[in-house]
Amino acid sequence: MSTHTSSQKITTSKIQAMKGRGSIVSLTAYTKPMAELMDPFVDLIIVGDSTGMVAYGYDSTLPVTLDMMINHGAAVVRGSQKACVVIDMPYGSYQESKELAFRNAARLLTETGAQGIKVEGGLELVETVEFLVSRGIPVMPHIGLRPQHANTMGGFKAQGRDEAAAKRLVEEAQAFESVGAFSVLIEGVFEAAARRVTQSLAIPTIGIGASPECDGQVLVTEDILGLFSDYTPKFAKKYVDLSAQIKDVFALYEREVRAGEFPAEEHCFGIKKQPT
Ligand code: KIV
Repeated sequence: MSTHTSSQKITTSKIQAMKGRGSIVSLTAYTKPMAELMDPFVDLIIVGDSTGMVAYGYDSTLPVTLDMMINHGAAVVRGSQKACVVIDMPYGSYQESKELAFRNAARLLTETGAQGIKVEGGLELVETVEFLVSRGIPVMPHIGLRPQHANTMGGFKAQGRDEAAAKRLVEEAQAFESVGAFSVLIEGVFEAAARRVTQSLAIPTIGIGASPECDGQVLVTEDILGLFSDYTPKFAKKYVDLSAQIKDVFALYEREVRAGEFPAEEHCFGIKKQPT
């Protein structure tokens, strides 16, 4: 059962105000049915560009387009009553200029009804985040391991291992906070660095593979359900193996169709009961 007490929509301001008040609960979703199932239990739904790998079978998030994110974002918004919905801006939709970032972020919000957007980056993106926030777009910057930068970061490697790297993460997070970000997502970061970032901010940190030191946790839903096995990061806890259960159902269906057991009378139109 959900421990939520309010059915009111959670805004990005509410997420911001949850700093230091217990863990913020978040999961990813790409579709309406999944959003509906998780909505009573989570504060924040992130429509991640991980959909490119999880649902489309790409080997990175780079091929994901703005139109894909708009379609998934709108579906998730239709399935969420209460949770705050934040959508990833895909690669190439915000890096070129702050004006391009605004045009695309505005499309994401106006065409989906989501509450905010997420962008992956460091200090080079601070001016863009300021531009977006000052024009009415709530932004969650994503620091640490940034999958859209896997080609320049040497792959999917944990970040913030040494003093210099931890210091840089703190600088990035503080710079984003100073220009109005409502929270910061930290991915794949060593515990000590995640603690320093979290303690240095008045806005919440949402961690994925970034230890319990963050103000909230997010995981990719298909990872926790056992529905995605192409790539499983260390931090992805598999709560259930739904793939195995789904395969059992497919096998049962195959057996029944081949044996002529399905469809039965109750699944058909116009079959008269035979007199006994
Ligand atoms: O794309 C994604 O699913 C993400 C998660 C870390 C939320 O960015």
